[in-house]
Amino acid sequence: MNEFVDLHSHILSGTDDGAQRDEDMFAMLDLAYACGTRHICLTPHFDPYHWPDNHLSADQAFEKLAEYATKYPDLTLYRGNELLFSYDGLEALRDGRCRTLNGTHYVLVEFSPRVSDFEVSSALNRLRSCGYRAIVAHVERYKSLFDRRDCLEELAEKYDARFQVNASTLFGEWGRKAKKFALKALRSSAVVAVVSDAHGTKKRAPDLRKAYAYIAKKRGVREAKRLFYDAPLAILQDKNI
Ligand SMILES: [Fe+2]
Repeated sequence: MNEFVDLHSHILSGTDDGAQRDEDMFAMLDLAYACGTRHICLTPHFDPYHWPDNHLSADQAFEKLAEYATKYPDLTLYRGNELLFSYDGLEALRDGRCRTLNGTHYVLVEFSPRVSDFEVSSALNRLRSCGYRAIVAHVERYKSLFDRRDCLEELAEKYDARFQVNASTLFGEWGRKAKKFALKALRSSAVVAVVSDAHGTKKRAPDLRKAYAYIAKKRGVREAKRLFYDAPLAILQDKNI
């Protein structure tokens, strides 16, 4: 079986719109493990406008999950957040309320789907100037980036940013245009991970097998391994990618 690293998930119960109860959280973890995931970064939304500061509730859920996960000795859990970019959010990163990915320089950052390309550039510039390296979550959702040629390479070069694509987009969850952009984006080396962004055990489940098989067939096993294992693990280890 292939082993996966899942950089983006909403498994911690009671912290956001992912798992709500501990039973849901445990079921999601069991499913992820059964599907071959061996490294999972827990990334609750950090968006104080929609959810109150969930720093403490995330800590409590993480402790429970870590205890439950002792039955899987070859599974590693990591802490993180998915930051909805704002200047308040940037402050929260700097004072530690919002977490980087496993305490590294890498920050998982998302935007509203209606964000402009100018706003994306300014946010990435700001993160870079504060010493962070941005991993832009589900890049295929941002319509303003769709038609700009070589946009991802340009943002990667200027701001040292990288990008991830959601597995479910490859099967149409965000529509035909998002899928088309995701497939185009996946030809760029600036895309460094395909993730579950799991919110439950049914829709957007923590199961990367189908997406891995799809990419392996389309782009080869070596590229699939880069996107589902090597690059996301390097991020969690704060290595250059
Ligand atoms: Fe997410």
